[in-house]
Amino acid sequence: MWRAIFFCASAVHALDVVNYGAFTVTATYSIANQLGFFTAYDLDVIYNQVPNSTFAYAQVLNGGYDVLTGTIDNAVNLRLNSKENVTVLGQLDQGPDLVLASRPDITSLDQLIGKPLIVDSPVSGYAYLLRKLLSANNLTLGTDYFFQTVGGTNLRYADLVAGALPNGTEVFATMLLYPFTAEGEVLPASQKPNILARVSDYVNPVSSSAFTTRQSAITNLTESSLLTRFVSAMYAANLYLHNPFNKHCATSLIAKQLQVSTKVAQLEYAAATDPQTGEISPWGDFTVNEPGLLNVIEVRDEFGGFSGLPSNYNFAAAIAPGPGKLIDYTIRNAAVACLKIDLLFQEC
Ligand SMILES: *[C@@H]1O[C@H](CO)[C@@H](O)[C@H](O)[C@H]1NC(C)=O
Ligand SMILES: *[C@@H]1O[C@H](CO)[C@@H](O)[C@H](O)[C@H]1NC(C)=O
Ligand SMILES: *[C@@H]1O[C@H](CO)[C@@H](O)[C@H](O)[C@H]1NC(C)=O
Ligand SMILES: *[C@@H]1O[C@H](CO)[C@@H](O)[C@H](O)[C@H]1NC(C)=O
Ligand SMILES: *[C@@H]1O[C@H](CO)[C@@H](O)[C@H](O)[C@H]1NC(C)=O
Repeated sequence: MWRAIFFCASAVHALDVVNYGAFTVTATYSIANQLGFFTAYDLDVIYNQVPNSTFAYAQVLNGGYDVLTGTIDNAVNLRLNSKENVTVLGQLDQGPDLVLASRPDITSLDQLIGKPLIVDSPVSGYAYLLRKLLSANNLTLGTDYFFQTVGGTNLRYADLVAGALPNGTEVFATMLLYPFTAEGEVLPASQKPNILARVSDYVNPVSSSAFTTRQSAITNLTESSLLTRFVSAMYAANLYLHNPFNKHCATSLIAKQLQVSTKVAQLEYAAATDPQTGEISPWGDFTVNEPGLLNVIEVRDEFGGFSGLPSNYNFAAAIAPGPGKLIDYTIRNAAVACLKIDLLFQEC
């Protein structure tokens, strides 16, 4: 019992700083942040905008970030291919609004032939899902199109809307997701991205954003207390998001956090609460969607993304949760036990 009390609150009633790295401002984070859920757990959460995945995962491993939300393919790649001790605490989402989007004058996939596609990393994140949906349309990397490494979704969205990279190179298409897909919907016709394909029409389900940390943090009392309280606040916010009674409040909190119109916030709310691709997990408690993770692994494998592993490698064993493994629910379980029920009834 003392342990639970220790993990659910700070010993002295002062705010503890959490360095949180994120690629995108999710709906769950928006609610936790706007409704003071982090403060309720004695946390001062610093949102660090991730510039690119290479940088972000280095920060996870060197302690620059206490926790990161990034797509689980990165963690799989680092853990299985590079033997790095990254650990997934749980799943936040299944790829809300994950689409291949192009500039307005590109209206079909064929028009991408001979063009560069901008990505965060050519060997992780959404690169393999992109290859999958293009190969399903008979387009092959290296033959029909190529990758240009640019950075995280926020940077790629800005470049797509501008039609060019900062160095002047033309931009044609990229993967977008929440909240950028909906933000693009209301741009003037000269800038509004075309949605060429939705990932969920090709691979479904996918396990996408995951709470990620370094393995050593889980057994460090200071770090694990921070992580537990952070995940608790996010858990409360995720439950709040999915309660239909909170639709109005959740939409206005999203609007406030993203500084977007009500119309865009309504699209964001719909994306974040989508039962297939939203900020959801199988039991609503950040459990990783196992078929979704196996789909991610299968797509990566199809394109040689595990070339260093033996052909009989046991992926099922590699993704089985447990202490010291790729997926470790120790923190998530403590976080669920630390849920402050009163937060769920807060007014906006
Ligand atoms: C990633 O971000 C870091 C920090 O901003 C930067 O130094 C680095 O050049 C970036 N890497 C890529 C591949 O863009
Ligand atoms: C990962 O953790 C294991 C067990 O603690 C350790 O033996 C190994 O050296 C670590 N790997 C890296 C790359 O730090
Ligand atoms: C891809 O190519 C195959 C074989 O040429 C053809 O049967 C199929 O219709 C093509 N699919 C698409 C989506 O273009
Ligand atoms: C512009 O930047 C992209 C992405 O970093 C790079 O691939 C391209 O070669 C650069 N182009 C020029 C003209 O510098
Ligand atoms: C636990 O983490 C804290 C904060 O990062 C660090 O200062 C401390 O040295 C760590 N303790 C151990 C035993 O590694």
